Amino acid sequence: MSQHLALLGGRPVRERPFTSWPIFGEREETRLLGALRSGHWGRLDGKEVAEFEERFAAMHGCQHGIAVVNGTVSLRLGLMAAGLDAESEVIIPPYTFFSTASAVIEANMVPVFADVDLGTFNLDPRAIEAAITPRTRAVIPVHFAGQVADMDAIMAIAARHKLLVIEDAAHAHGASYKSRPAGSLGHLASFSFQSSKNLTCGEGGIITTNDPELAAACRSLHNCGRIPSGLWYEHHVISGNYRLGELQGALLNAQLERLEDQTKTRDANGQYLAGRLANLPGLHPQQRPDFCTRHAYHLCMLRIDGQAFGAPRAAVIAALRAEGIPCSSGYGFSLPAQPMFRNRAFGPYLPGVRDRLDYEQVHCPNSDLLCREQAMWLEQAMFLGPRDDMDDISRAFEKVFDGRAALADWSRREGTT
Ligand SMILES: Cc1ncc(COP(=O)(O)O)c(C=O)c1O
Repeated sequence: MSQHLALLGGRPVRERPFTSWPIFGEREETRLLGALRSGHWGRLDGKEVAEFEERFAAMHGCQHGIAVVNGTVSLRLGLMAAGLDAESEVIIPPYTFFSTASAVIEANMVPVFADVDLGTFNLDPRAIEAAITPRTRAVIPVHFAGQVADMDAIMAIAARHKLLVIEDAAHAHGASYKSRPAGSLGHLASFSFQSSKNLTCGEGGIITTNDPELAAACRSLHNCGRIPSGLWYEHHVISGNYRLGELQGALLNAQLERLEDQTKTRDANGQYLAGRLANLPGLHPQQRPDFCTRHAYHLCMLRIDGQAFGAPRAAVIAALRAEGIPCSSGYGFSLPAQPMFRNRAFGPYLPGVRDRLDYEQVHCPNSDLLCREQAMWLEQAMFLGPRDDMDDISRAFEKVFDGRAALADWSRREGTT
């Protein structure tokens, strides 16, 4: 007997909240107070950011870490550090946060979109190959939702075409690929510590690399173009002050101690839930190739085929929320359809090529399908609780599936798609 959906007046599957985010306690208070009382609040005279850079880089298989103010700046500085020509082409996925593209434009380079794979939601190496032109100089694979892109294939393409590879690891703290950490797989990597991220200090970012020359260039770029042997008021390249502050560094040092356990919990819960949801018709959790040895589950993302499931995505999301399961449909449209691209609102950037750039002609059908009809997101903090929480999520999906006929009627009445 199917139970009455909460959306239609029944009792919700879950009436308790999931784990809230961020998680903090005495260790954050102690570190923060230490930094506060030291009176050294800036990176130049404190110890917190320097310590964090070393620890975070080492945890991610890297010799160098350069902490910066956010995960957008880290992408841009990475591109600038490589000394690429103005208006070089940089291949990126269309299914990612705006910053992956805006950082390219703010480095005065041209974003070129290659579609994602519908199973893994990550850049498809074949689409990268197809997007390469004589002007391509770099590629930014995003480890979407916290699952590393197919880096061996991407690095092989990059080697053949002499491309710089910057991992956008904003979702992928602690993730691994063939047991190698995210952040150590490309030439450079960029992480974000913005509030929603798996490791956070409110706002922050870091560049990781094993290349000493790129590291030195990033360090100079994040510090007004200074060099270690130079005078204080001596500036060698155009840049600004993108240094992370000590209070953020202190918070990150405390939060970092939680990361390993939290990552293990998210991965175990996420894998368990994905396994259970895959049994329902029309639901396709993110495919996990063998090379994914650890998923960071910044998001548990799945595709819903509304026809096969029996009710459209918007109705399913409304029904799940009513059952006490927070979820969303994620990005409303692919990046090339953003007004910024449609209107070529590039500010002072790309003066030499802007007139020939026509993003209306760019089509990424897999990304469009995810945005318009199929993607569903569950956020990382939900995966930090006990296994029972996963059972509640799974029971709610099963209940909504059982009630799909009534839900489809509701959806027709409400006009949801
Ligand atoms: C994939 C991706 N890249 C880059 C960023 C930018 O990070 P930040 O918000 O720290 O600038 C984000 C942040 O949401 C992101 O999701």
